[in-house]
Amino acid sequence: MARQFLLSHPMNSMRHTKVILFLLILLSLWALHRKYHFSTRHLQKMSQCWFQARQTELKLSDWFHPTQIVELVKKNLTITEWSAPIMWHDTYDESVLKKYYADHNITVGLIVFAVGRYLERYLGRFLISAEKFFMSGQKVIIYVMTDNFSAVPWVYLGRHHTFKIFQIGREKRWQDVSMMRMKTIRDHIVDHIQYEVDFLFCMDVDQVFRSSYGVETLGESVAQLHNFWFWAVPHMFPYERNNLSEAYMPKGKGDFYYHAAVFGGTPIQVLNIVRECTKGIMNDKKNNIEAVWHDESHLNKYFFLHKPTKILSPEYCWDYLHGMPPYIKNVRLSWNFKSYRPLRESN
Ligand SMILES: *[C@@H]1O[C@H](CO)[C@@H](O)[C@H](O)[C@H]1NC(C)=O
Ligand SMILES: *[C@@H]1O[C@H](CO)[C@@H](O)[C@H](O)[C@H]1NC(C)=O
Ligand SMILES: *[C@@H]1O[C@H](CO)[C@@H](O)[C@H](O)[C@H]1NC(C)=O
Repeated sequence: MARQFLLSHPMNSMRHTKVILFLLILLSLWALHRKYHFSTRHLQKMSQCWFQARQTELKLSDWFHPTQIVELVKKNLTITEWSAPIMWHDTYDESVLKKYYADHNITVGLIVFAVGRYLERYLGRFLISAEKFFMSGQKVIIYVMTDNFSAVPWVYLGRHHTFKIFQIGREKRWQDVSMMRMKTIRDHIVDHIQYEVDFLFCMDVDQVFRSSYGVETLGESVAQLHNFWFWAVPHMFPYERNNLSEAYMPKGKGDFYYHAAVFGGTPIQVLNIVRECTKGIMNDKKNNIEAVWHDESHLNKYFFLHKPTKILSPEYCWDYLHGMPPYIKNVRLSWNFKSYRPLRESN
């Protein structure tokens, strides 16, 4: 049932409604005109407005200007073979994007899971930094999924930010925590998130925003380059190599290694991502298989089959353990000090 509601993006359906409305008006004015030789000046004005509205669709070349900086890593990391932009500092015109989104009245959702020890250790800093840097100037709803309601810290949010907290069940193993995330996201998008936001991000909680994380990151489906593997070639990637797993990737295949700490898109696209990943995880479970990097392996398989429309450079999820190479100039979000994997140990 939910599927029917989700057939199109809210902006698309608005556009369809507009077209239908326009045609109805056209029809009725035509009828009036036949009867009364009614002036069509108003109609002309309306159709002008309509065409102007259509013309304000952004083209990639309006705002995206890839530069050479990234050639430093000896790999084309500015635009993909399927023409998806890869976002780095200095590759986009912020004023064009800001103006475009100012006219569109959008709401951006951000889902974060805070369970077990991660709740008290990381959630406060994540939320405070999100309030400061995530989509400033846009309406934002932050969805906190937690297993302990009473431990959620009180954080002051500005007038554009709203907070929604949901209680989720406890999983014993951290592998299950990370895999059940996909299913929980799916259920919440179907239940309510699809009606509440135009774009949605899902992020790990053990990260901190460092500078502006803005509308340049919005897209139909958005993937994050992994800050350790972005320089590597596909046969090196830590994809799932067991051919019995749904996440299986043959050696040499693949475009990039994506990081499950950040992914996003429109609610319908995020729903597709998590629905397919959940299906893969469940089928593997039935066959007693667990992919090498759990939900991340399934996410990588998904983005191999369904190419993301926008990719975020490692500046959008940096790990200071790798230092600061010259092509990393503007870190937007970073992992917390410790560890190679978030959500992956000691729960
Ligand atoms: C923007 O959207 C909100 C609902 O999300 C609505 O209440 C408000 O009137 C809209 N504003 C404009 C200028 O369209
Ligand atoms: C939930 O958090 C509260 C406040 O931090 C704490 O006192 C309580 O023990 C926690 N409950 C569980 C089940 O961890
Ligand atoms: C799957 O992998 C096994 C060993 O890793 C191999 O023997 C088998 O032929 C492979 N099956 C397919 C369908 O590729």
